[in-house]
Amino acid sequence: MINERRKLLINLTYIFRLSMKVAFITGGAQGIGEKTARLFVKHGAKVVIADIQDHLGQSVCEDIGLDKATFVHCDVTIESDVENAINVTLAKYGKLDIMINNAAIVDDVNPNILDNELSSFERVMKVNVTGVFLGTKHAARAMIPARSGNIIMLGSVSGSIGGIISHAYSSSKHAIVGLTKNTAAELGQYGIRVNCLSPYFIPSPLTTNMIIEYPEKYSKVYSNLKGVALCEDDVAEAALFLASDEARYMSGHNLVLDGGFTVINPAFGLFARASPLE
Ligand SMILES: NC(=O)c1ccc[n+]([C@@H]2O[C@H](COP(=O)([O-])OP(=O)(O)OC[C@H]3O[C@@H](n4cnc5c(N)ncnc54)[C@H](O)[C@@H]3O)[C@@H](O)[C@H]2O)c1
Repeated sequence: MINERRKLLINLTYIFRLSMKVAFITGGAQGIGEKTARLFVKHGAKVVIADIQDHLGQSVCEDIGLDKATFVHCDVTIESDVENAINVTLAKYGKLDIMINNAAIVDDVNPNILDNELSSFERVMKVNVTGVFLGTKHAARAMIPARSGNIIMLGSVSGSIGGIISHAYSSSKHAIVGLTKNTAAELGQYGIRVNCLSPYFIPSPLTTNMIIEYPEKYSKVYSNLKGVALCEDDVAEAALFLASDEARYMSGHNLVLDGGFTVINPAFGLFARASPLE
């Protein structure tokens, strides 16, 4: 009987990969953040969604169930907002296990740097880099005393190669890979893992403008991997892996989720491959 119960417990632990965990997700009111919140809850976690879209964030939490999901208004560029949101999490759940620095914005693609405005560059850097720095800082504040934790930054393939998107967005995604490595180097001594998750392009509210403005480039997005198109659920699954104990020895890593896109230079045609727009 005891053995049967133990087996059941082991099975449940396997199915619910985040049972008893508390996760905080910035920008979780829609898109990848929302999908991640829903998947984490399915795996037993309690989630806090922090976003500037109050109505949307609150309605996502109500849909998930207010016993499992909490919304808190938080602009990631304002330190007092981030500090308060982490404090709300600690007051409600008593701990923070997983931080997902997901909130980001994109600016217009201006292929000529002379047309790029300083204000627009700084706006992107403020959300995509300063916001991630503040999220990491205040997550670490909660995690260091617990001597454990797991921080995940949402990067992009444009954080490792050039020529895909705007200068500001690409710079911001390169910057958070650096922040991932530096904070992993510091926080490992407290048992805190820090990783970056860098997906390929997905049609989403973030990228809708690009699809409309550059339909010939983005309407038939492809990677090297034939027959599969990346979707938000794939990113949520990869985040689940990084957040779970299956990845317990991974830290300082940039996990690129791109079907091989960043490892291929199409200028060399060694292998037969389909046309990008096929
Ligand atoms: N969609 C893609 O193709 C793609 C590809 C690679 C990486 N990413 C990255 O994945 C993450 C999520 O992207 P998405 O496609 O789900 O975007 P999205 O636009 O659908 O969602 C972003 C969320 O962030 C919130 N947000 C924006 N500014 C904020 C602020 N100052 N404070 C708090 N919240 C704020 C928005 O309200 C929104 O809910 C981003 O980091 C993005 O750079 C997306």
